[in-house]
Amino acid sequence: MVLKSCIFSFSILLLTACGNGSTKENEVIPNETPEEKGESLYVLNCASCHGEDGKLGSSGAKDLSVSKLNDQQIEEIIRKGKNAMPAQEAVLETDENIKLVIEHVKTLKR
Ligand code: HEC
Repeated sequence: MVLKSCIFSFSILLLTACGNGSTKENEVIPNETPEEKGESLYVLNCASCHGEDGKLGSSGAKDLSVSKLNDQQIEEIIRKGKNAMPAQEAVLETDENIKLVIEHVKTLKR
């Protein structure tokens, strides 16, 4: 019994140790091209609702592969959100990141 709880607390320790790793959200691999960075940011912050191909439509998210918005309109929605879509300005942290994500969103259209 004692041994069991020992093993149990040990594995919790291990889990926390791993979970506390240095990987910060939005932290990307060095040497990533801008295209790859845009994709990583999109997958991290947008794909849960929009899907990696933009078509998932979770929580009523619009299908980005058929979206007809221009850059400014996309930027506005990313920054401020719209209806069920929460604003992503703070999440993406920098104007540079927002630009990269817009570029990635445009590659989903076809
Ligand atoms: C919590 C779910 C959620 C997340 C996360 C999310 N969206 Fe959305 N998104 C939505 C919903 C819902 C709509 C539809 C808003 C409306 O028009 O009612 C939408 C609409 C959009 C539109 C407008 C499409 C059109 O044609 O009208 C764009 C562009 C967009 N999202 C991009 C993004 C990007 C880029 C990210 C990540 C930075 C993101 N979204 C993250 C839910 C989400």
